[in-house]
Amino acid sequence: MLKICVIGLGYVGLPICLKISKKYDTVGFDTNNRRISYLKKSIDENKEFKKKDFINKKIFFTNKIYNLKNCNFFIICVPTPIKKSKLPDLNSVKKSFELISSVLKKNDIIVLESTVYPGVTKNFSKKLEIKTNLKNNKDFFVCYSPERINPGDKKNKLTKINKIIGYEGTNSEIKNKLRKIYSNLCKNLIFTNKINEAETAKGIENIQRDLNIAFYNEVLLICNKLNINFNEVIRLAATKWNFIKFSPGLVGGHCLPVDPYYLTYAASKKKYKSKVTLAGRTINNSMKKYVMEIIKKKINKFSQKNKSKIKIIVLGLTYKYGVSDTRNSQKLEIFNYLKKNYKNTIAYDPYLNNIKFKSVNNNLYKNDFFLFLSKGKKFKNLFNKISKNSINKIIDPFFYYIK
Ligand SMILES: NC(=O)c1ccc[n+]([C@@H]2O[C@H](COP(=O)([O-])OP(=O)(O)OC[C@H]3O[C@@H](n4cnc5c(N)ncnc54)[C@H](O)[C@@H]3O)[C@@H](O)[C@H]2O)c1
Repeated sequence: MLKICVIGLGYVGLPICLKISKKYDTVGFDTNNRRISYLKKSIDENKEFKKKDFINKKIFFTNKIYNLKNCNFFIICVPTPIKKSKLPDLNSVKKSFELISSVLKKNDIIVLESTVYPGVTKNFSKKLEIKTNLKNNKDFFVCYSPERINPGDKKNKLTKINKIIGYEGTNSEIKNKLRKIYSNLCKNLIFTNKINEAETAKGIENIQRDLNIAFYNEVLLICNKLNINFNEVIRLAATKWNFIKFSPGLVGGHCLPVDPYYLTYAASKKKYKSKVTLAGRTINNSMKKYVMEIIKKKINKFSQKNKSKIKIIVLGLTYKYGVSDTRNSQKLEIFNYLKKNYKNTIAYDPYLNNIKFKSVNNNLYKNDFFLFLSKGKKFKNLFNKISKNSINKIIDPFFYYIK
């Protein structure tokens, strides 16, 4: 009998856990006690799921290792951040493999879903062999299936996207099992028999996006310097058949600001110094400075008030529209900076858990400046309202709304 264990119940692990538990007996394991106690009450603090989504699911949420004893299929979805030095921090993945080593049995399957650099899955499989005296692809089976979940995206849902599965063994029974289990998660499964190809593919998907946004950010900066309408430039360029459209903005989150460093780390171990992969990082990370300059210019032009009296409302704090996630959010950094310098700064983000930022009160129009940092329907509605009589008060650094 299959008993599945999902390790790490965040933005990636919880949706997998909920989906897979419709069909299989599932244990949801997380080291964060608070997360487990909330999940036991069917509360997802990430706000991706409602209480009703937990109904009729065969999940046992736990932070106790002994509850994993009878599991025979492990899915690892733990974080893979970077350290201050920008080097990969694989500590959670390491701990997950150690955890599994204490409960591993013959024929168990392990699927790593966390984003890693090429070679990581194999390295940990080897360590598992040493610890357990069992052989990978003979006694147990380690696979890699990168995750493409896009929180807040109602269109490209987990079930609709293509899912890559890297499995290097030759046992067709295992491949069939993987297909059977994963077809409950995604419609279209794409197999590769080289795990490092799957690991690299995941990395470059995000790096490509990071670089494209960086290019847009640079075009925006250049247009600003040359006093050229950015949106018009894009509208014109996009009439070419192979021009690809992106949006400029404040890149944040756990993937784009992190993943390029994973691939370049792997390359550097082979003495290759990357020339393009990290090129987007500097500009994408520096866009908060550009926003600050725009704010200062606007304030100087349209306000005679003393700094301490100026009221600013920041619209959008989470790293992207539609999610509650503030990891690596430059918007939050901008807000904190403004608050220090203009103490009457407030913020609004309906997706944030913090009640303080959840509503725009009746005094909305009393603000001197409205800083739009997120692109999305709820903010567009606000823009439409405010812009009717206060267009000079609007700061829209990325021209999301002002055309
Ligand atoms: N969030 C996304 O949109 C997304 C998309 C694709 C890929 N990824 C990748 O998926 C992985 C997970 O990302 P996430 O956003 O779900 O992270 P997250 O921080 O939302 O969730 C990770 C969970 O793992 C738990 N955890 C940490 N160490 C653990 C351990 N040793 N054992 C058990 N639980 C542990 C944490 O408490 C947390 O609840 C990362 O590698 C990330 O890069 C994320």
